[in-house]
Amino acid sequence: MTAEIIDGKKLAENIKQEVKAAIEERVRQQLPVPGLATVLVGNNPASRTYVASKIKTTADLGIHSLSYELEENCPQDKLVSLIEELNQNQDIQGILVQLPLPDHLSEDRVMHTISPKKDVDGLHPYNAGLLTRKYSEPLFYPCTPSGIIHMIQSVCPDISGMDAAVIGRSSIVGMPTAMMLSRCNTTPTICHSQTRHLDEVCRESDIVVAAAGSPGLVRGEWIKPGAIVIDVGINHIPDKTSPRGYRLVGDVEFDEAVKRAGAISPVPGGVGPMTIAMLMANTLKAIEYR
Ligand code: GUN
Repeated sequence: MTAEIIDGKKLAENIKQEVKAAIEERVRQQLPVPGLATVLVGNNPASRTYVASKIKTTADLGIHSLSYELEENCPQDKLVSLIEELNQNQDIQGILVQLPLPDHLSEDRVMHTISPKKDVDGLHPYNAGLLTRKYSEPLFYPCTPSGIIHMIQSVCPDISGMDAAVIGRSSIVGMPTAMMLSRCNTTPTICHSQTRHLDEVCRESDIVVAAAGSPGLVRGEWIKPGAIVIDVGINHIPDKTSPRGYRLVGDVEFDEAVKRAGAISPVPGGVGPMTIAMLMANTLKAIEYR
């Protein structure tokens, strides 16, 4: 058996086209279009690439954008003041501070400063808290977890009752993905670097979400035949044969896992494009909270 490939690029394109159509309709009706502010601090090359991609996508879809670049040694107060200013800016509905931040800055303080109504990343503790509450809805669901759920449901709309392994417990991906999987009535197990018998947890799971940042961690033989496998890893591996000097690999040994899974997402072209599409969808939604 060879798995169905979950084409994140194509799914993302569909979502972006829907957002674009909704914005065109707003323009026709002379309603305000949403605005997204991106904030990049420092010189992390991967963060620079991601932010550039987010800014380009806003332009493609007709979303107004403001981008800020702050130096690596930017004081915390300067960043906090910028966010406070953006919270007041009527032309901006979404604020995205690209993570990770340089070590001297408190991610927690920064996330607390963003208005929950402009928290298009869904990472503010208010929104993260609402995600965990049974009868509540956050104002925004976080982008990568939303993309993951969308990808899973594209191949299996009803995942109710399934067992899921989520490898990684970060605030951006692992934890909120587990919460969202639970909201879809699956039973998630949150695994991490101290988890004993990770292979066995995976073997019993109908869904595996690998977000550990560890290249090739998940082996093909760990995959339950027919399982849905979502690879969130984006690992840069030195490769002299590539013009860029590196290649991107996921957390899953794709060539092995593709032979056992029912459906699997590739790297690149899987979760990455979905994160950006969901950010655009959240920015459109943000206009409701204006
Ligand atoms: N860094 C990696 N992924 C993300 C994300 O989804 N949002 C932000 N703000 N930073 C990130």
